[in-house]
Amino acid sequence: MTLEEKAGQLNMVASFRAVTGPGEIQEVDESIRLGRVGSLLNIWGREEVVRVQRIALEESRLGIPLLLCHDIIHGHRTIFPTPLAEACSFNPALWEQTAHAAAQEARAEGVALTFAPMLDIARDARWGRMVEGPGEDTWLAAQIGAAKTRGFQGKDLNFTTSLAATAKHFGAYGAVTAGREYASADVSERTLLEVYLPPFAAAIAAGVAAIMPAFNDIAGLPMTANAHLLKDILRQRLGFKGVVISDYNAVAELLNHGVAQDLFEAAVLAFNSGVDIDMTSNAFINALPLAVDRGRVSLHEIDSSVRRVLHLKERLGLFDNPYPRDPSPSKIVKKDQDLHRSLARQAAQESIVLLTNKDQLLPLQETLTHLAMIGPFADDAAAMLGSWASAGHEEKTVSFFEGVRTALPNCHLELIAGVDAIKEDISEISHALEACREAQVILLCLGETAEMSGEAASRTDIGAPGAQRALAEAIFNLGKPVIVLLTSGRPLAAPWLFERADAVLATWQLGSEAGHALADILFGAVNPTGRLPISWPRAVGQAPIYYNQRATGRPTEIGVHYSSCYIDMLATPQFPFGHGLSYSLFSLLEFSCLTPLVKRGGCVEVGVRLRNNGSRSGEATLFFFIRDLVASVARPVLELKGVKKVILAQGQEEQVSFSLAVEELAFIGRELDMTLEAGRFEIFVGQSADPAGLLKQSFDLSL
Ligand code: GLC
Repeated sequence: MTLEEKAGQLNMVASFRAVTGPGEIQEVDESIRLGRVGSLLNIWGREEVVRVQRIALEESRLGIPLLLCHDIIHGHRTIFPTPLAEACSFNPALWEQTAHAAAQEARAEGVALTFAPMLDIARDARWGRMVEGPGEDTWLAAQIGAAKTRGFQGKDLNFTTSLAATAKHFGAYGAVTAGREYASADVSERTLLEVYLPPFAAAIAAGVAAIMPAFNDIAGLPMTANAHLLKDILRQRLGFKGVVISDYNAVAELLNHGVAQDLFEAAVLAFNSGVDIDMTSNAFINALPLAVDRGRVSLHEIDSSVRRVLHLKERLGLFDNPYPRDPSPSKIVKKDQDLHRSLARQAAQESIVLLTNKDQLLPLQETLTHLAMIGPFADDAAAMLGSWASAGHEEKTVSFFEGVRTALPNCHLELIAGVDAIKEDISEISHALEACREAQVILLCLGETAEMSGEAASRTDIGAPGAQRALAEAIFNLGKPVIVLLTSGRPLAAPWLFERADAVLATWQLGSEAGHALADILFGAVNPTGRLPISWPRAVGQAPIYYNQRATGRPTEIGVHYSSCYIDMLATPQFPFGHGLSYSLFSLLEFSCLTPLVKRGGCVEVGVRLRNNGSRSGEATLFFFIRDLVASVARPVLELKGVKKVILAQGQEEQVSFSLAVEELAFIGRELDMTLEAGRFEIFVGQSADPAGLLKQSFDLSL
């Protein structure tokens, strides 16, 4: 390989299907012929894939196949709930299944690598990309990272149902200042190691093929130029051996960061910091050959990077056959698409969180004869897809209205938006009220459009946009039962709504089967099981808000003046991490710790009796937390260490046991190494992180 051909393997160019960053789509054919392109992104579809691969194989000197990539974030043709929504399922098997289904559909159309899972811990709902990630908790995010990697990659990357996965965005992108997109993230190395990086470690342990550094800087060092994190931490400490792919144009944007004076310096800095592939900035292809000649970059390092890229292509089977393997992907996908749609319906059911349900209004009776569906999202299929919906199409998406109409074919449905999703126009509210006149129950469908979350979609106000509050209050004033469905990419701060609505469902952005899944929950075919992967803020002023905070010197104590509180609002969330109601009613009895003293290599064993006092069977979710009471570093007041889901029939009681290996009590010590310290611990079980609902035991660790 010539030096330029080697640089070509490190050059990724955006194709034509979608634009996911600044700048124009480049012409690629001639560059492929010249061996100046190793991979393309935003490409899928048999015809185009065959066309570009044929140029690479038959018209370039070396005939090296292209690595074709796309953001398959929550589905390809069949769209699953957004990652934040799907996190509510606390179901690793489901996460793996939906990733596998997405991989099958995307690989059938020639995609070989996805830029997913996104594993950015997010605690600030102003940041639009919270929707793409695993929520606020490190333990949960690590489970998701491992499950999604397994799901996308399968047992062998060479399978026609596998995609190479990319864990992104390496490091602390969710900590951007003030929730503002692309802003700096100033987190301590301890917080980085303790909160933001463990999900990546889990994905790496599961064999993730690629890592994408984040756009942001951390304490002044842009991740794309952060050798300490991309080499010392990622390669040495976490043992990553795969490919590091920059984010879109991020190498060139080192000039904007002010750490490189021109594209040549940016290329040298990024490459020497550990970036293997330059996405769309054309910096590597134009600079690396010269940089080697000038001794600024070592040929040995170039060869190592190129070897990693070629090895990935080989694992994907691209040298054997880079073309879509299925003779007619549409038929193959069609056969499986029915399976995928029922999986999408199940995923959507498990993603819905029942936030409030006054007087057990839900589930609704199917004997209803008159329903009003009001609001901008009552019949908006596009909004159900959320951001990064890839090749998903709204015309194949079931809206709420369609789902309810299918479930209750004989019920009279009134449908009117009443207000626009965003505009302040209240002129149609009177018509909406008219439509409710005969309704026995009103379904009020509020929230955000798909464009109001995702990349480059931070908001300073995380309430219901436009005139939605005016509509809601007019509807509430009718004095009829009102159920609110919240379509959104983030938790919406709206205490006024939770106070007045009779029931509220967080329906997020549920994907292709949104309407059917909603109807399944509304009318009781399915008992809701979704639990919040985030702390739901009362107001944007609380951001960032999360349950596993440190106590501080004056812990939060409601009513205590000199404590960590606000003078104008409670410091607690509207709904705690893990919150989610069921149509059953679970109670926790007799929590006991069977191991009052544990040692290295042992396990903490606890047990709790769980009872279903409700009128129907249901699934309870139990969260197990610990607290390290005294350590060399201040520890969080709660740390999630495990989740158990238990199905109980009406009136059934069950003894639930939980075991925690002592090594799981380790934390990032003063020297930033994993540290285990003797002392007293508390262990909790609850149905959320709400302190009022936790049962507590304690044990001692001796070393
Ligand atoms: C975008 C996103 C990244 C995505 C990439 C390719 O800017 O930051 O998550 O994978 O570009 O679309």
